[in-house]
Parts: sequence; C-alpha cells; structure tokens
Amino acid sequence: MEGIDLDSVLEEQDKIPAPADFLAGAVVADPAAARSRAVQDSEAFWAEAAADLDWYRKWDRVLDWDFPFADWFPGAECNIVHNALDRHLETWRRHKVALLWEGEDGHRQVFTYAELSREVGRLADALREMGISRGDCVTIYMSICPQQAIAMLASAKIGAFHNVVFGGFSADGLRDRINDTQCKVLVTADGGLYRGKIVPLKEAADKAVAQCPTIEKVIVYERCGHGAPMTEGRDITWEEAVAGRSGNAKTEVMSAGDPLFVLYTSGTTGKPKGIVHHHGGYMVGTYLTSKWIFDLRDTDLFWCTADPGWITGHSYIVYGPLINGATVFMAEGSPDTPDAGRWWRLIERYGINILYTAPTAIRMFMRLGEQWPSQYDLSSLRLLGSVGEPINPKAWHWYHQVIGGGKCPIVDTWWQTETGSVLITTLPAEAAKPGSAGFPFPGIDADVVDKQGNSRPSGVGGYLVVRKPWPSMLTTLYKDPDRYREVYWEIVPGMYTAGDAAVRDADGYIRVLGRMDDVLNVAGHRLGTMEIESALVSHAAVVEAAVIGIPDEIKFEVPKAFVILHSGYEPSEELNNELRSHVADQIGKIARPASLEFVDSLPKTRSGKIMRRLLKAQERGELVGDTSTLDPGSVPVDQDEPEGRSRG
Ligand code: WTA
Repeated sequence: MEGIDLDSVLEEQDKIPAPADFLAGAVVADPAAARSRAVQDSEAFWAEAAADLDWYRKWDRVLDWDFPFADWFPGAECNIVHNALDRHLETWRRHKVALLWEGEDGHRQVFTYAELSREVGRLADALREMGISRGDCVTIYMSICPQQAIAMLASAKIGAFHNVVFGGFSADGLRDRINDTQCKVLVTADGGLYRGKIVPLKEAADKAVAQCPTIEKVIVYERCGHGAPMTEGRDITWEEAVAGRSGNAKTEVMSAGDPLFVLYTSGTTGKPKGIVHHHGGYMVGTYLTSKWIFDLRDTDLFWCTADPGWITGHSYIVYGPLINGATVFMAEGSPDTPDAGRWWRLIERYGINILYTAPTAIRMFMRLGEQWPSQYDLSSLRLLGSVGEPINPKAWHWYHQVIGGGKCPIVDTWWQTETGSVLITTLPAEAAKPGSAGFPFPGIDADVVDKQGNSRPSGVGGYLVVRKPWPSMLTTLYKDPDRYREVYWEIVPGMYTAGDAAVRDADGYIRVLGRMDDVLNVAGHRLGTMEIESALVSHAAVVEAAVIGIPDEIKFEVPKAFVILHSGYEPSEELNNELRSHVADQIGKIARPASLEFVDSLPKTRSGKIMRRLLKAQERGELVGDTSTLDPGSVPVDQDEPEGRSRG
C-alpha cells in the first residue's frame, strides 16, 4: 500500500469515453444492460454463459453453496481442453493460428488449432504411458514458450492437474512446490533466453528433484540445445517422449468440480498457498471475461505479456483465449533485449491488436522514453489492458496516448490468483477513469465494506469483498480447507475478503488502493513478507528478520529487510550482499531485498508480532507512536489492530 501515490489517484476524476468507432462493433455494446440482467439473477446469467460451451453432460443445478465451499455446475461433465481445442477442430478454426511465439533470439513457432491439438495429444499420450492419470499432478517449470502451454493442456486433457512453477523461482521454490503435490512427473526445459543469456532451468530442476522423492520422470524440452545435463533412466527429452505418437489421445471426461490446477501464491505466512481451480467454473469464468473484457474477435491477435507461470498467463494466455478460439501471441525474454524497441517492433511486425500488460512495464517504458515506441507503427492496436497493481493516472495517460494513439480503450482489470478471472474492470465500451479499475464484472457481487460488512459510503475506503460465489473462484486451498475458510471468509464474516483496500467514488467506480496485509507487490509479482523473512532466518547468521515494502517508481514496491545477527557475526557489506543473495537462492531473484539494514531490535506488539507498519512509518519519516495514524494516506481505511490476526 505504501507505493500508492494517493494524491494523484484521488485528484483524477476525468472520464475517458470509449472511442465512437470502437462502440460500433463492440462485443458488449451495452454494458449497463448486461450488468442489470446479471444482477436480477446471477445464476441464470452464468448458466447462460456456460451454455455457450460444450459439456459432455449438462449440470443438475448451477450452484451448490455450502458456505464457504462452492460447487459450480454440479452433475455436469466436461473437460476444459475439449472447449479450448477439441471443439474448434470441428469448425473452420481448425486451421486458424492458435499460438504464435517469438523467442528472444527471433526464433519463431506457429501452431494452428489442429497442430496445437496434435502436440497436446502427443504429450498427453506420453504422460499416460508414464502412468499419469486422473487426479495425478504434473509440475511444469519452463520459461515462456508454446511447450509450456502444451504441457498444461496435455495434463488437463488426461485429467491430471497441473502445478506450474514460474521459471524465475529457484530450485528450492520448485522443490517445495513439487513435494507439496507429491508429483511424479516434472516437465521442464533445458533453459530459456532472458537478456541474451540462457536461464539454466534444467540445472535448477536437477537440484530440486534431488530432494523430491516422488519424481519418477523428467521430460526436458530442448529450447536452447546447449547440452544441459540429463540423468539416465529418469530424464527423457520432449522429442523422445512424443516420438511416433499420433496425437489422437482421448480427452478425459471430468466432473465440473474436478481439479484443473493448483497454483501456489504468497500469503502472509512463510508457506505459499496452493490455490485450487476446477474444470467447470474456471472454464466459464475465463471464457466470458476474455470475450467481454478484451472484446475478443476472430480477427484479433491477442498478446498478454505475462508468464504462464502466474495466474494471468493461465487465464489469459492459455485457457480464456483458446476457449474463445482466439489467436494468441507469446514472446520469450526481456522487453529490453536486444533494445527497448522490442515490444513495439513485435506489435508492428505481427500486427498485434490487443495488448495486456502490467503497470510496472508501462512505467519502465515511460522512463526509457517515447523515442522507442515512436519508431514503430502501432496502429494495429485497438484495445489495451492493465493488470497486477493499481495503474497511476500518469502511466495510464502515457499508455493511452503513446501506445494506444488515443484511440484504444484501456481496461484496468483487478483480480487475483484466487479469483481465477477478472472481477473488477470497466468493459471496453464504457468510459474509463484513469486510476480506477471500474465496476464489478456482470454477475460479480463485489463491494467496499467496513469490518462488519456494511457498505462504505462513496469516498471512504474499506475492505474489498465479494459477497456471493462466482464460477472461477478458488474452491479451497490445496489440502487445507480450514485455512481457506479462515483466510478468505472470516476477516469480514461471511464474505470473500481479497486482502486489498479499495474506495468507490460517487459514480460507482472502484479504485483499488493496494494490499492491506503483509503481501508485497514487486513488479506485479506477489510475495509474502514472511516468506522472505523465513528465507533470511534460514541463514546461519540471522536470528530474526523483518521485511517491508518500500515504494519504487518502476516496480511499485521493493522488499527492504531489517536483520538481527547472531552473536559472533558482524555487520559488513559482504554479509549484506550474501544475505540478499541467499534470499534469491531460496525463493528466486524477484524476492531479493533491494536493501538490507542490520538492527539490534525490531518493534513488536505485546504478543510478540513484528510491527511492520511501524517500520514502514519510520522508513517514510512519519511520526511514530500513534499507530492509528498509519493508515494509507488520506483515505480512511479500517485496519486490523497491530495485534490482530494476520491473513494466511
Ligand atoms: C493486485 C494477479 C490494483 C491486488 C492477477 C491483488 C491489482 C493482487 C490489480 C493479486 C489492479 C491485481 N489494480 N491492484 N488492476 N490487479 N492487483 O494473485 O493487490 O498475482 O490482490 O493476481 O494484485 O495478485 P495475483
């Protein structure tokens, strides 16, 4: 929350209407009508969306709600891969391009729906032969490439659930996620390119798997071909695994409530939470939000710049767009390699129509200057999206003018790993307000409330909640239903609490202000302060550590650590660097503290909890002592007492 420039957020009141020529062909021409229809009967609304898709057996009821556990479309049978691939093969889309990928070195791969389906089928066969079937888990650890999506789809096709681990996580992060799911097969790559260098994924995978007793087979996609080490008997190359297979593997018939994937995300304890999503509800949520929010049309080339290792890539590179039969663009590597014009060159070269990215990237490009985008023809763009953190009005306007040429609507989409699909945004045919995400998506009962669950008046901040279940919601935490109930449904009793603070203006636009809990948002990546603290105390020199987020112009916030050393260890620059690198080794480079301070003590509550809010206030040079003044800026937001329960 510290990273928000509240003044500039609150000053901005301008409404930017959608351009007239956009309105003419919009997928949802009358958003207000769609919303009011959904308000009258949200279950009927979602059932209508579900009816656009193929089901092997129709649902008996739309929703069984046994608070806080939802069962969407009980009785229904389906497979999300049938909707993402199989059904398109019966239509003209069979030979339409599904995925178009460019590597950082310019290497290119193109898959039509028929080709993609064949490759998915071949890997699915290979996985089946390795003994993977319904209910098993497949872990995927790769950098951005079509094979990452193919591995996800192949797992889902045979009824296994996938566990995608972001390629930027370290060996230890991978190990913990594999061991939590007791996974038998890991799909990885020899490496991936980033800033001109090979990211040694296979080496990290080897280090992890050495401590993963359940892993029997490792499938290695040779992206770089640099001769990564292979372990005889355990490792097999992707080419070998799929050789001689026809790709006609059968798609498994699943119940709507069968798990599709688990994706680990940071909470406020040291251990990431396994968010579980399912075939039926997630399929409906990602289908409709992709179509309506991105105004997806068959002629579009859609580029979501996320990595499929995060939820944004799951929902808006792989499942949502493919269910809609869209053409998806993917790019490997860094936005500034070989130079800062790369993204704009790709947009010009391929004629990309929709760009969905994060404010941190937009701010980085702002700093690099207009001279980069201005060298390229970006006129193919017709819609822009933002996700991952609040977008400040300055970055919004730059994105709108410099990238969108003033003619593209911007959708600022608020959602979370837990929500599965976007819950708050404007639809592209309605006016946007820079800095505000907008309105609850039709069928979503979101609100800004006080701790008792009463709606806040406009202009007064509070908890962002969802009152009623929605199809793409998480239905539990992996192997931990009690924590699921406690973390999401008990902070404001009876409502899903997102962990974000928000405020609604007089026109009903919701501005999301940032996290209210000890979760950081570093360049759109979600990291728990306790996760970083646990990594620090795992070092022999450290007795205790506290981590806070400090504002950063580009990354929104960056971690800063306060460390108490064991006796016998002296503060030094070497140790400072070593401890920060230790965090990178334990979690991944994204978690490396930007700065670290050695201290003799840490401020604590009487019950012994570290008062991170005091550390933050000290860091900002604010008056310390009266904790009630430590709310975010001028917007009054209910906060837990420092002694209060922390979110999980
Ligand atoms: C933040 C990413 C403001 C928020 C899809 C949320 C946002 C967390 C926005 C989830 C937005 C995401 N405006 N804040 N448009 N989008 N957030 O699980 O704090 O990686 O709780 O999902 O990102 O991060 P996650």
